[in-house]
Amino acid sequence: RHPLVLAKLAALRATATPTWQFRPLVRDLTQLVFAEATGDLRLEAITVRTPLGDCPAHRIGERIGLMPILRAGLGMVDPILDMVPEAAVWHLGLYRDHDTLQPVTYYNKLPAELAIDLCLVLDPMLATGGSACAAIDILKKGGGKRIKFLGLIAAPEGVRALEQAPPDVPIHVAAVDSHLNEKGYIVPGLGDAGDRQFATH
Ligand code: PRP
Ligand code: URA
Repeated sequence: RHPLVLAKLAALRATATPTWQFRPLVRDLTQLVFAEATGDLRLEAITVRTPLGDCPAHRIGERIGLMPILRAGLGMVDPILDMVPEAAVWHLGLYRDHDTLQPVTYYNKLPAELAIDLCLVLDPMLATGGSACAAIDILKKGGGKRIKFLGLIAAPEGVRALEQAPPDVPIHVAAVDSHLNEKGYIVPGLGDAGDRQFATH
């Protein structure tokens, strides 16, 4: 309900918003959702020297891995790397079959060993939840333990699917919309997040 989230979501949804404005909105909203989703990151105590003396301080004590679901999740990577530049990035290519709406995997860069404490699955749209569930399944089989899903807009159907399939994955999104239409699009949503980011409509 943060005012910045609500105002930026309005602009993101509007058909009149062109790609060059859509991308920075994805970026800003991603950083706001990321801040919300990482409020429980483990900290380590350190001391820093300021110009006036020693100051007790903190550093992030967890290793973070990002799994963007291509294409649309790509726009969420850089805004998070700006915050945690040391994070690993594992690209996962999935697309929804137009007829069945089932996710099809075409690219997977998950390493053999995951030396990571927290895995974040990134996709702006949680529609049926099929893509997110497939990504989480791949992560779990690859050794991912603590996993969170970060998105921008979800349908209630997708939230339910994610809660039922892997029930230990918290969901952080900017909005939960009304429903899915007969083609599996989120209503009112924003249309196709990949097309709007990459000007492929
Ligand atoms: C979109 C979106 C998600 C998926 C969500 O990708 O970016 O990955 O649909 O739908 P779901 O929850 O029903 O699985 P799309 O399949 O259009 O692929 P693209 O980004 O390559 O266009
Ligand atoms: N993928 C999108 O990009 N938008 C939707 O509404 C549903 C799936």
